[in-house]
Amino acid sequence: MPLVSMNEFLPRAKAEKFAVGQFNLNNLEFAQAIVEAAMEEKSPFIFGVSEGALRYMGIEFTVALAEAAAKKSGLPIALHLDHGSSFDVAMKCIRAGFTSVMFDGSHYPFEENVRLTKEIVKVAHAMGVSVEGELGTIGGVEDDVSVDEADAALAKPEEAIRFYEETGVDALAIAVGTAHGMYKAEPKIRHDIIEEVSRAIPVPLVLHGGSGVPDDQIRKSIEFGIAKINVNTENQVACTASIREVLAKDDKVIDPRKYLTPARKAMTEVVRSKIRLFGSNNKA
Ligand code: 13P
Repeated sequence: MPLVSMNEFLPRAKAEKFAVGQFNLNNLEFAQAIVEAAMEEKSPFIFGVSEGALRYMGIEFTVALAEAAAKKSGLPIALHLDHGSSFDVAMKCIRAGFTSVMFDGSHYPFEENVRLTKEIVKVAHAMGVSVEGELGTIGGVEDDVSVDEADAALAKPEEAIRFYEETGVDALAIAVGTAHGMYKAEPKIRHDIIEEVSRAIPVPLVLHGGSGVPDDQIRKSIEFGIAKINVNTENQVACTASIREVLAKDDKVIDPRKYLTPARKAMTEVVRSKIRLFGSNNKA
């Protein structure tokens, strides 16, 4: 199956109250681990690629990995630019074969965010590519995007509704209290904001910073209208912890496959548990 846009599965997810995971793609082992879990669980999913990951893997390898995963699995998989910073990056990704892009204009004033997002929506939609926008600022560090906790700002429901109406995005990330990276204290998700915005607009809402959020808060977020949840850090933690364990036990290991095989397995288990928690199993 070729890569698909997020519109192949997100509208259904919102209607049926489940969420599709965006699992960030950082290298070959992430690609294999994610697709392995999704195949076993028969789940659609999204490969999220940050600009940092794009620089690390190179755009050709990134697209090739995602296309190989789609071909091998037969699953509906979207290849999505995560936190795209400009029109140029979004266009470069679309030309290379991405089926979805996020434009993160959340640090711009509202009107400028609307203007820039609209430009991308116009071109992307003409190419059958879905677009995610962002409103409010999500705290924490995600590759190139770093927001001090003090500067994190919740989305205002009336602005989020107007943002959707003016831009026509296919999915909208709103800041509701989560942050990128692991949490020092339990996050307090504003389900009232999710509910108010979700009721007013037809498109799905996106929860960034899905790592470390307690299961009951995830379930409640989906109940109120979140249909896409981004997870990266938990896979990174599982991968690195596993590698550390192997190397700590035996300092003679030199073959990367010896520590990457268990690392990959650890990530498959993380992805499997998220797919089940999000309820996207058996929805492919
Ligand atoms: P975490 O790294 O906190 O899981 O967040 C991922 C994310 O939101 C990517 O955009």
